[in-house]
Amino acid sequence: MKNVFLLFRRGANSTYDFIGEDVWGDESLYLNLGYWTGSSMSYDQAAQNLADYLGCSAQLHNAKEVLDAGYGFGDQDMFWAKKYPKLKIKGVNVTQLHVHRARARVEAAGLSDRVDLMQGSATELSFEHNRFDSVVSLEAAFHFVTRKDFLNEAFRVLKPGGRLAVADVIPCKIPGGANLMQKVRMRVLSALLSTPNVNNHSSEEYREQLEKIGFVDIKIESIKANVYKPFFSFVRNQKNNAQFMSRLSPRVRYFYKMISSPSDKILETFDYVIVSACKPEVFA
Ligand SMILES: C[S@@+](CC[C@H](N)C(=O)[O-])C[C@H]1O[C@@H](n2cnc3c(N)ncnc32)[C@H](O)[C@@H]1O
Repeated sequence: MKNVFLLFRRGANSTYDFIGEDVWGDESLYLNLGYWTGSSMSYDQAAQNLADYLGCSAQLHNAKEVLDAGYGFGDQDMFWAKKYPKLKIKGVNVTQLHVHRARARVEAAGLSDRVDLMQGSATELSFEHNRFDSVVSLEAAFHFVTRKDFLNEAFRVLKPGGRLAVADVIPCKIPGGANLMQKVRMRVLSALLSTPNVNNHSSEEYREQLEKIGFVDIKIESIKANVYKPFFSFVRNQKNNAQFMSRLSPRVRYFYKMISSPSDKILETFDYVIVSACKPEVFA
C-alpha cells in the first residue's frame, strides 16, 4: 500500500520500477494500452497493432534511421526491425530496468546490429542535428519533463523533411471548461500516471507548440474509441483471470485492481491521440 502512494511523489522511472516485469502480455512485454480493432483480440496483438499504427504514421517504410523515445522493453523496436529489414533504430529511455532488459532481448533476437537502445532522456538528446529520418514515441511523451522540450529536441535531430509520430495521452476538451471535481480528478490521475501538469494541455495547444517549433503538415487524430474502452474491458476480464493475477507480485496485483475500476472517469478525462508532423524540407 505504501508503495502505491510513493508512486504519487516520484517520476516515471519509479513508476516503471514499481511495475517491474508484471505486464499485460502473455508473449510480449509491451506497456501500452493497445489499438483494439476486434473483440477477440489479445493484448499482445492490440499492443503490436498500436506500434504498427505509429510506425505507419511515421512512414517508417521510407526511413533509414529512426529514433524511438521511451522504448519500454523494446518490443516495438524488434517488431519494426523485422517489418522494415533495412531500418536502423536508436532508442532512449530513462528507466534502468527497461534499458537492461530491452538491450538483452534485442541481442537475444539477433538484432543488435540494427537496434541500439541507450539510456538517456528524450528531453536532452545526445545526437547531432539533422540526423534521423523519423522520431517516434509510443505512449511515453506525456511523462517527459517536459513534452515541449522533447518536441524541440525531436525537431533538432530530425533531417529536413523528416517525420515525427507520437502516440500520446492528453486531457479531453471539456465544453465550458473543467469543474472543480474534474480538475481534482485530472491532478490525481496525472500524478498516478507520472504526468507533469505542464503537459496537461489541449490538442489545440499541442498543435500551436508544434507550429511554433517549426513543424508543418501537423495531424492530431483521436483514437480513444479504439483504446480506453476495450483496454479497460480487457483489464476487468483479467481481474477475474486467476492465472494472470497469480503471476503478478501482490503490490502490482493491488495496483491493477485499483486502476480497473475508474475506467469511465478516465474516459471522461483523457483523450488518446496519434500526433504526426513534418520538419520542412527547407527551414530558416
Ligand atoms: C507507457 S511506457 C511505453 C513503453 C513502450 N513504448 C511500449 O509501448 O511498450 C513509457 C516509457 O517511457 C519511458 N520514459 C519516461 N520518461 C522518459 C524520458 N524522459 N525519456 C525517455 N524515456 C522515458 C519509460 O521508462 C517507459 O519505458
